[in-house]
Amino acid sequence: MSHIEHDDHSNNLLSTPSDFSKIIDNSLSRRRFLQTTAVGSSIAFFATSPLANAMTKKHSDSTVIGFNPIAASTSDTVVVPKGYLAQPLIAWGDSIKPKATLFSQTNSATDQENQFGDNNDGMTFLPLSQSRAVLAVNNESTDYATLFNDHGKTLTAEKVRRSQAAVGVSIVELRNDQQGWNVNVDGRLNRRITAYTPMVLTGPAAGDQHLKTNADPTGTQVLGTFNNCANGSTPWGTYLTCEENFDGFFGSKNDIKVPKRDARYGIKSGDGDFNWHQFDERFDIQKEPNENHRHGWVVEIDPMNPNSKPKKRTALGRFKHENAALTINQDDKVVVYLGDDERGEHLYKFVSKAKYNASKPEANRDLLDEGTLYVAKFSAQDGELYGNGEWLELTFGKNGLTPENGFNNQAEVVIFARQAATQVGATTMDRPEWVAINPKSDQVFCTLTNNKNRGVKENQALNAANPRENNIYGHIIRWEPKNGNHAAHEFTWDIYVMAGNPDKYDAKNPRSGSQNINKDNMFNSPDGIGFDNAGRLWIQTDGDYSNSGDFAGMGNNQMLCGDPNTGEIKRFLTGPTGCEITGLTFSPDNKTMLIGVQHPTGSFSELNGIPRSTVMKITREDGGVIGA
Ligand code: FEO
Ligand code: CA
Ligand code: CA
Ligand code: CA
Repeated sequence: MSHIEHDDHSNNLLSTPSDFSKIIDNSLSRRRFLQTTAVGSSIAFFATSPLANAMTKKHSDSTVIGFNPIAASTSDTVVVPKGYLAQPLIAWGDSIKPKATLFSQTNSATDQENQFGDNNDGMTFLPLSQSRAVLAVNNESTDYATLFNDHGKTLTAEKVRRSQAAVGVSIVELRNDQQGWNVNVDGRLNRRITAYTPMVLTGPAAGDQHLKTNADPTGTQVLGTFNNCANGSTPWGTYLTCEENFDGFFGSKNDIKVPKRDARYGIKSGDGDFNWHQFDERFDIQKEPNENHRHGWVVEIDPMNPNSKPKKRTALGRFKHENAALTINQDDKVVVYLGDDERGEHLYKFVSKAKYNASKPEANRDLLDEGTLYVAKFSAQDGELYGNGEWLELTFGKNGLTPENGFNNQAEVVIFARQAATQVGATTMDRPEWVAINPKSDQVFCTLTNNKNRGVKENQALNAANPRENNIYGHIIRWEPKNGNHAAHEFTWDIYVMAGNPDKYDAKNPRSGSQNINKDNMFNSPDGIGFDNAGRLWIQTDGDYSNSGDFAGMGNNQMLCGDPNTGEIKRFLTGPTGCEITGLTFSPDNKTMLIGVQHPTGSFSELNGIPRSTVMKITREDGGVIGA
């Protein structure tokens, strides 16, 4: 099930002038904001911001991007630059067990458990040796139109179970042979984690009353993970899978009043897209009002131990998680940046209490259980599109997180993290998707994919960090923690790119985008991002692929490569019809890149007439480093 946002493309951006639309208008017209030969107000910014050094470099050709960019495309294929190869690595329904049944729409749930899951999203390549690795991949969702030959018109308990088996996480071993990295179907670590795999809840919310159900009076034992969007990984060898739109899997046979605290998370009564509640009472919010609180977490998985129980790390907060960008801070604490992908929701950060111990891997196993959760507040400097920011602590007893305001303990703060964020005055954002940390600097980037409610809904007024009304194209914000200390409460921020259409809108219109957007690299709705070893920023899109109107010239969803220093952005890959491009990971030498084609709708990777989500392997004909 795709959750592409088809915004209402109303062209009312400048019809209701406001301070911020004036600001961006001035700023963009003054040199379209990211102009690197700084003039006008940009001088002040470059002189005072710690991000300045990076952005004042000459806008000459990037020294890190070496490929020849490709044109936008509407073809039903994956297109890569000259000298590059794109080959399927594994697709939905491919066997991951030696005796798996061949994929078809009449497979059983057990058949699906032995196959690679549907709608691959975030993934991590975990090397074991020069010739052996493990690949952990999220299977975000499934689509009844392709899963069932009756398109899900009728459901049964078995069909619901198969749907639950199609999602979660797939873990497969890879082998490096003459053909490069390929899946080893016999790999002893191959494993499927589904919506019914036993796991445990750990951290401050474990055992809390809001997590207790009829099946689990302890509030610590939970079945399954689903809507696993993006991901993260740890230096102690584990994989982090992030639960996003879990609300869509809950419903009720009867119409009931949904508690306000759950409605904030999108929980609705009645039928929805998946209707698991019709055959699995766990998903009926009337029968099990607390089950939904057991989803929306970051889950830590040990891919090296196929018998290990995944752990839901409640200290990282409950919301519609996108990815988990983890770094070991200068003081050895673990810092994880986390986006909540919903219009007007927030950007978070977790800082561990204990320090990472590189010499004792087993000592790090539960570092994500204890620490401090924060949420971001962005402030504008003198009305400009950059400024300072502050991480507001989400700790019971502080910042108004008290019983008078509905918070009785830390468990309630993390379970209802969205409400806690509102209580402390966090900035509402344009759908924070992935966060990525530049390994060559201390800068952190976050995609704000789009937001049709920005400047339209009362609770989503324009702000400097989210300055465009009805933000149909999205932008990428970046910040630098004070003194390079990711545990610091203060940061400085600016906007790396405003996506836009400079072919359709003139430079005075914010919809033309920032200086680093031109007719040759236009895109909309940035979503997946990640850095490679050399500090190239890879940007993937999940947006409007109509190639018409406001989106004319952008073509299918795509992947671009950005130079974080010069601001230069070049198109690297275009996806097939109907897909989004999501998920990226590299072999340690950066000579193999894996990316995901999710929910194609044409004939891409077709088997038995069904287009299939696929992990693609990108290599160079000359065996070189990707992007160099
Ligand atoms: Fe699963 Fe926000 O993308
Ligand atoms: Ca998706
Ligand atoms: Ca996404
Ligand atoms: Ca998206």
